[in-house]
Amino acid sequence: MPESPSLTVVVLAAGGGTRMRSKTMKVLHPVCGRSMVGHVLTAARSAEPRRIVAVVGTQREQVGPHVLDLVPDALLAVQEVPEGTGHAVRVAVDAVVEADGTLEGTVLVAAGDTPLLEGESLRAFAEDHAASGRAVSVLTGRVADPFGYGRIVRDAEGGVQAIVEEKEATPEQQAIDEINSGILAFDAAFLRAALPRISNANAKGEYYLTDAVAIAREDGLRVGAYALDDVQQTEGANDRAQLAALARVMNRRILTRWMRDGVTVVDPETTWVDADVVLAQDVTLLPGVQLLGATKVDEDAVVGPDTTLRDVEVGAGAKVVRTHGELAVIGAGANVGPFAYLRPGTELGAGGKIGAFVETKNAKIRDGAKVPHLSYVGDAEIGEGTNIGAGTIVANYDGVAKHRTVVGRHARTGSNNTFVAPVTIGDGAVTGAGTVVREDVPAGALSVSAGQQRHLEGWVLRKRAGTPSAHAAEEALGAAGSESSHQGPDEFAAEGDTGAESR
Ligand code: UD1
Ligand code: CA
Repeated sequence: MPESPSLTVVVLAAGGGTRMRSKTMKVLHPVCGRSMVGHVLTAARSAEPRRIVAVVGTQREQVGPHVLDLVPDALLAVQEVPEGTGHAVRVAVDAVVEADGTLEGTVLVAAGDTPLLEGESLRAFAEDHAASGRAVSVLTGRVADPFGYGRIVRDAEGGVQAIVEEKEATPEQQAIDEINSGILAFDAAFLRAALPRISNANAKGEYYLTDAVAIAREDGLRVGAYALDDVQQTEGANDRAQLAALARVMNRRILTRWMRDGVTVVDPETTWVDADVVLAQDVTLLPGVQLLGATKVDEDAVVGPDTTLRDVEVGAGAKVVRTHGELAVIGAGANVGPFAYLRPGTELGAGGKIGAFVETKNAKIRDGAKVPHLSYVGDAEIGEGTNIGAGTIVANYDGVAKHRTVVGRHARTGSNNTFVAPVTIGDGAVTGAGTVVREDVPAGALSVSAGQQRHLEGWVLRKRAGTPSAHAAEEALGAAGSESSHQGPDEFAAEGDTGAESR
């Protein structure tokens, strides 16, 4: 669809937001992984305006770069002092006129703190306004509790006469349940003429943008309302309790969209999916799953229960159980968890496995390679088809610097190994249980580092006499008969009496 050459969207984001009690600006607080103003900007973009103008205030060093990050060609208008919405729009209009030399067509004004607003609603409202030939259109809704909103005052014929703010409203007007959503559309020429005529002689001492409605009526121009059935879309968050309520609504909306697209969500109440997550058909999300950031899950993958993935790619048919993952890639058909911790830079190949109580970081575990149990793999590459024994630790850090470990293809490393980086284990190599690999292992070699196993016969009977262990040993030795109870070599026993004890 071509952009609307005559549509300008103004997003107001200069208000203080003191009720959030936060050092972060209100409009920057996230809802489902995207800032509140980010959601509004996304909706604004989908209306395909010629220009988006964001009005930023004193915290502009926080908000300005964020806006430009999301909409690089947005125009920033700075409102030094928040003197009201009418003043904020005037600052925006001045900025456009300065940048473009002119401002024509429709100007749509939205607040930066209504994250549920959908692009489709904004677009339909702008189109309705443009087609109607009105000077001003107001997006309105009927709410159970209109307190705090501007009320829509209608004349005898039902035409919109004025918007009266809470503090200015008479008791009769306060009873009106039709409210101004805060989203208005203007004919640009009218807006430019009306803004200087708005006064701040009112209860708040602010320039109310909503006064433009009465000005249009004075001039005999057309004014109208566009009622939005889903008034929830225009709800703002002023504090963190409202923020959480909006997040739940948005999460439900995101989940419903994915369910309609063929994703199974077993328990929508405990499943959270951020706005930018992408899910394929026949993905299954089990209870207690959080998919955050830019996470992507491919066809037939099953995630959960109780799994948190941030910026993780999950391949087709993979299974990820009770896992915490960040900035990782899980290959098609791979298995992860339960109780796995995938740290940034983890890449698991197709059909691979990162099993129970395994932590990985900056680790490429190639196709079909497995790290099944109780291991730490950091700064390492594990070749295709290799199996890493239970309880293996990659000692990547010598206390000063991190070093790399490379294990080749189809290697079989034993249980309870330590790979002291930097070290390379060749293709097809095997290591024995308990091996501490300090030097490179050639391809096809068997590497063992544990010393010869030795026995100090009877040591427990002599040194731990009277303990349950000694009793158990006595019983076992008695039952085994005298033929097997031989003494070890003398030097062996002597060493056991001294050296072994001091360990
Ligand atoms: C405004 C409307 C009210 C409507 C309500 C819907 C006016 C006068 N009133 O009231 O009719 O029912 O929204 O939520 O417009 N802002 C600035 N600069 C300012 C003042 C505000 O950028 O100087 C921004 C705020 O950051 C916010 C938006 O404008 O995003 C609305 O301001 P707010 O003070 O919340 O207006 P309300 O009193 O809620
Ligand atoms: Ca508000």
